[in-house]
Amino acid sequence: MQTQILTITRPDDWHLHLRDGAALQAVIPFSARQMGRAVIMPNLKPPVVTVADALAYRERILAAVPAARNFQPLMTLYLTDRATPTLIREAKAAGIIACKLYPAGATTNSASGVCDLWALLPVLETMAQVGLPLLVHGEVTDEDIDIFDREAVFIERILFPLLQRLPELKLVFEHITTAEAAQLVTEASDQVAATVTPQHLLYNRNAILVGGIKPHYYCLPVLKRETHRSALLKAVSGKQAHKFFLGTDSAPHAQNNKESACGCAGIFSAFAGIELYAEAFEQVDALDKLQAFASENGPRFYGLPENSDTITLKKCARMVPASFAYGDQQLIPLRAQETIAWTLVE
Ligand code: NCD
Ligand code: ZN
Repeated sequence: MQTQILTITRPDDWHLHLRDGAALQAVIPFSARQMGRAVIMPNLKPPVVTVADALAYRERILAAVPAARNFQPLMTLYLTDRATPTLIREAKAAGIIACKLYPAGATTNSASGVCDLWALLPVLETMAQVGLPLLVHGEVTDEDIDIFDREAVFIERILFPLLQRLPELKLVFEHITTAEAAQLVTEASDQVAATVTPQHLLYNRNAILVGGIKPHYYCLPVLKRETHRSALLKAVSGKQAHKFFLGTDSAPHAQNNKESACGCAGIFSAFAGIELYAEAFEQVDALDKLQAFASENGPRFYGLPENSDTITLKKCARMVPASFAYGDQQLIPLRAQETIAWTLVE
């Protein structure tokens, strides 16, 4: 039998954590090898809150891109309760691509996130006016809401009212994990889109909890039931698939911070982002939809051109290393010491 070969327009990663310093140096070659561009998450310590912070971070990223690669970071600002309409206008003028909303306390490095979204209404109105998209970590943080319900409750309490109040706001519902989120995005206007991670297309919550506790499958929003995974696969390959695009949410943490009594949320997948998505699309016989998801829907939403070159994947299983160097520590990748069915051809 002939080896299956898949050539697609070079993809982009519309949700990526690159960190900073030695961690940035360690992980950036993986993304630069397969992605043309990436939307860079601003949840550094301290977070990227000013235009100057974002432009300086962009320079550090560009300086870390391996010489042979052409990789463009698209910068975001981290919204806090102190954001102003003036900041939004400055951001737009400086080429910032979007602002990220982290509800305070929702995830890794979100302590400076937004406490009262409605107090930010003038800021959000300005974003709608100038055409700066809002990227949303869609989970409530109320202690009485079960962690597996936090996305669905966010839709009811925050997202529906927000979309009604500001229908012209361009909004990306980030790393969606539930049937409810897929439905909301499918039925919303074309101002609303979503990113979907490889882990939420490939795994359900059993991956974290069956046969022992598996910290390297823990991320936020947490993996959900199989019914939700099926709904996501349907969404990315279905009639409204143009509203969904690639965002790995690759979120590296050092091994000792993951394998701990209080392990960090975040899965490192950037070393094989596109290969993992190929596996997921193949599961539902939708490899013909992979290019739109990976390389077309994102640029269309953001009003950017598609990348002009291609990448090639071959159906050939490869072993994932046990770990990668991460500064003076180790980084455990998704699927460490197991195989991935597809390989990127250089
Ligand atoms: C991300 C991180 O580690 O920065 N973690 C994660 O589990 N996805 C933060 C985020 O995107 O929620
Ligand atoms: Zn993220």
